Amino acid sequence: MEKFMKDVLVILFVFLSVHEVSLARTQKSENKITYIVHVAKSTMPTSFSHHSIWYKSILKSVSQSAEVLYTYDKAMHGFSTSLSDEELQLLKRQHGILKVTPDKKYKLHTTRTPEFLGLDKIASLFPTTKKSNDVIVGLIDSGVWPESKSFDDTGFGPIPRNWKGECETGTNFTTSNCNKKLIGARFFSKGFEAFLGPINETILYRSPRDDLGHGTHTASTVAGSAVENASLFGYADGTARGMAIGARVAVYKVCWKIFCSSSDILAGIDQAIADNVNIVSVSLGGSADDYFKNHIAIGAFAAMEHGILVSCSAGNSGPTPFRVGNVAPWITTVGAGTIDRDFPAYISLGNGKNYSGASLYKGNDLPDTLVPIIYAGNASNGEGKSAEICDSGSLAPEKVAGKIVLCDRGVLAPIFQGDTVKSAGGLGMVLANSKIDGEIPLAYAHILPATSVSFTDGEAIKNYLFSDPNSTATIVFQGTKLKVDPSPVVADFSSRGPNSVTPLILKPDIIAPGVNIIAAYSKSVSPTFLASDPRRVDFNILSGTSMACPHVSGLAALIKSVHPDWSPAMIRSALMTTAYTTYKNNQTLLDSATNKPATPFEFGAGHVNPISALNPGLVYDLTTDDYLSFLCALNYSSLNIEIVARRNYTCDPKKQYSVTNLNYPSFAVVFKSEHDEIKHTRTLTNVGAAGTYKVSVKSNVASVKISVEPEVLSFKKNEKKSYTVTFTTSRSEQNNTRSFGSLEWSHEKTVVRSPIGFSWKFD
Ligand SMILES: *[C@@H]1O[C@H](CO)[C@@H](O)[C@H](O)[C@H]1NC(C)=O
Ligand SMILES: *[C@@H]1O[C@H](CO)[C@@H](O)[C@H](O)[C@H]1NC(C)=O
Ligand SMILES: *[C@@H]1O[C@H](CO)[C@@H](O)[C@H](O)[C@H]1NC(C)=O
Ligand SMILES: *[C@@H]1O[C@H](CO)[C@@H](O)[C@H](O)[C@H]1NC(C)=O
Ligand SMILES: *[C@@H]1O[C@H](CO)[C@@H](O)[C@H](O)[C@H]1NC(C)=O
Ligand SMILES: *[C@@H]1O[C@H](CO)[C@@H](O)[C@H](O)[C@H]1NC(C)=O
Ligand SMILES: *[C@@H]1O[C@H](CO)[C@@H](O)[C@H](O)[C@H]1NC(C)=O
Ligand SMILES: *[C@@H]1O[C@H](CO)[C@@H](O)[C@H](O)[C@H]1NC(C)=O
Ligand SMILES: *[C@@H]1O[C@H](CO)[C@@H](O)[C@H](O)[C@H]1NC(C)=O
Ligand SMILES: *[C@@H]1O[C@H](CO)[C@@H](O)[C@H](O)[C@H]1NC(C)=O
Repeated sequence: MEKFMKDVLVILFVFLSVHEVSLARTQKSENKITYIVHVAKSTMPTSFSHHSIWYKSILKSVSQSAEVLYTYDKAMHGFSTSLSDEELQLLKRQHGILKVTPDKKYKLHTTRTPEFLGLDKIASLFPTTKKSNDVIVGLIDSGVWPESKSFDDTGFGPIPRNWKGECETGTNFTTSNCNKKLIGARFFSKGFEAFLGPINETILYRSPRDDLGHGTHTASTVAGSAVENASLFGYADGTARGMAIGARVAVYKVCWKIFCSSSDILAGIDQAIADNVNIVSVSLGGSADDYFKNHIAIGAFAAMEHGILVSCSAGNSGPTPFRVGNVAPWITTVGAGTIDRDFPAYISLGNGKNYSGASLYKGNDLPDTLVPIIYAGNASNGEGKSAEICDSGSLAPEKVAGKIVLCDRGVLAPIFQGDTVKSAGGLGMVLANSKIDGEIPLAYAHILPATSVSFTDGEAIKNYLFSDPNSTATIVFQGTKLKVDPSPVVADFSSRGPNSVTPLILKPDIIAPGVNIIAAYSKSVSPTFLASDPRRVDFNILSGTSMACPHVSGLAALIKSVHPDWSPAMIRSALMTTAYTTYKNNQTLLDSATNKPATPFEFGAGHVNPISALNPGLVYDLTTDDYLSFLCALNYSSLNIEIVARRNYTCDPKKQYSVTNLNYPSFAVVFKSEHDEIKHTRTLTNVGAAGTYKVSVKSNVASVKISVEPEVLSFKKNEKKSYTVTFTTSRSEQNNTRSFGSLEWSHEKTVVRSPIGFSWKFD
């Protein structure tokens, strides 16, 4: 159990674990592996009355014992099942089978954020009218803690009539756990159980109830009702509320303690589409794959076709470039930034120097005087474990007793590092970011007096420890600080571009608050996840792109409630073209990894700005046909198109398809040689008043010429107009150079801004 809990923690707190892992080797039984089977549904023999009967019959013909785990019909066409290798080979040869892929594991990637985003100023715009109530957000996550006050339904009208969902019962969960706010709750465990055997109900809830806290946190960030006096041990005290306070919530639990399997994720998305949600929020992910190999991309395509906006976390693999995930152009990809709130707890050293840090430790039981401090790497018990990162059982009690211990942040969860120090008799802990963790110290609800410091400060403190054998220190906890400047900055962990799957689509799309976010939590886990920690909290403070994504999902729900007829692409366009990229002093938003100005490869279009997003003036719309043309432009085979788009679609050999013509609200320009000319065509739809818009372009690289034709566009109400941008590079740039710019259409105070990312990639 201890080991089990440790795995959980590593996933949730370290936030680097967004890679999917084939589970082939960890599969539980008789050499059978779970597969997702894509079927050409249109080729069903007429003798079958229903596709599910046909799928069963296909399966029967290859295996005596195999059973259909799930039949998919909305998110994809096909089913999942567990098969032996022989059965697999037989199945692949059956009529109508397009592709068989092994199931995969995916990992899980507020009081302040509404004010930070300016939502308090526009409360009057969103009365809990019938319309705003009618927006339903589906969360593909770890379930929900339904008793949380964030799901209180006071004041809510009847459940929308088009709602087809359910409140499924199970361990400690009945239909009375749903209400007019939490209108649906379902769970999908067959993929998980095929991997690890039946759920032990004394350990996990075999129901929509949240064992992890993650799902409760994201659901309440999207649409939590207002809860007064919310805090974590007094930190971040205030009224907690979600972004779309009037929206309804439906949870689809697909994550079970240590992972979420793609067969369960697909079943959740399939059901969310059938239930008629309007927005799907997915705070989990895997590696960036071709779209036909990525089941989130596949499910999201179907959702998009049903008019559902799918918002996903970009991943926590920053600051290394090329790591952004969930990059399909029909997905809204969200990176993370900081907000203007901090939990400072500085360390004061015996040499008189102080270094700022962050902590959510409750209370202060350090003595008033300075106490000895030691580097964990100098306190090993010699048993071969990594003492410098305070691995469990690595420290010698005689070396750390009565001292503050400085541990390097490593792959371990910070909370476990605290446990190591505490059990060895340490008084307190300083957690120093490693180089890759960068300069933002993250706040944690430590179980002993502890604070985190940046990489640079960690190095400075170590220098003092190494140079003074009598080094001393104390930690001073300062509570919650507001109006932190500058904010936002791009979080170092937020996954960045360029897009490794389709370099001609700029990703992430946007950033939103994702650092130290307070939201509702599950009462079945401690805020630290430690099994030994008996504390239970109503609200917890977490960081990750997992927290940024539901902010955008909730804001999309707000826009949907004001503009119910807008397509997912129009909503995303409104969010992107109104995002901001500078502070009030006109300086570009910073990247915490470098402390330098960030670029579209880190923040996409910029930081979300919900007030402007309601009135974007012009939008870039996209239809299913546009995305099909995009797949043709990628030279996808008809087999791969059918896997993604569930239809037998043939690209027109006479047509010139081009990724650069996908009507995306941003530009990724890839020059293939020293002298290159690239054209992008776009179409704008006027969703505001009639007006004449003029274009202006900016770029930070002199060697690229940008020309737009035409430079002026006059729109009547609802009118569409197209333009072409030509990017010409004239002077030689180095291979693999990256640069950026922007293109703006403006009319009076309305600015429709698109980011441009340039890269030079020579074959
Ligand atoms: C069941 O749910 C209730 C909330 O209704 C909670 O207080 C209780 O601890 C849960 N029981 C178990 C065994 O988790
Ligand atoms: C379920 O977990 C409990 C507690 O760890 C254990 O005592 C019990 O044996 C487990 N049951 C099964 C069927 O594994
Ligand atoms: C919140 O706290 C304030 C001050 O402590 C108190 O006056 C108020 O009644 C509290 N509200 C609720 C709903 O508990
Ligand atoms: C560091 O903090 C201590 C209190 O912990 C304070 O007395 C001292 O003045 C501070 N030093 C500096 C240089 O700010
Ligand atoms: C402590 O560790 C540092 C870095 O590993 C090393 O340079 C130093 O010599 C060690 N000090 C002692 C007293 O062992
Ligand atoms: C460290 O402390 C010891 C004992 O208190 C003392 O003898 C020694 O001189 C001190 N060393 C330094 C460098 O201050
Ligand atoms: C920022 O730029 C705008 C427009 O260029 C200008 O009006 C404003 O004065 C600038 N603000 C500052 C603080 O420089
Ligand atoms: C698709 O194939 C065409 C013709 O072979 C080629 O020009 C184009 O670069 C290919 N596109 C991609 C995205 O590979
Ligand atoms: C797809 O459509 C083409 C013609 O439109 C047809 O020849 C082909 O057999 C179809 N393939 C499948 C798998 O239905
Ligand atoms: C450009 O860099 C890429 C690696 O990013 C390399 O594969 C390619 O060969 C380089 N091209 C030239 C002409 O150097």
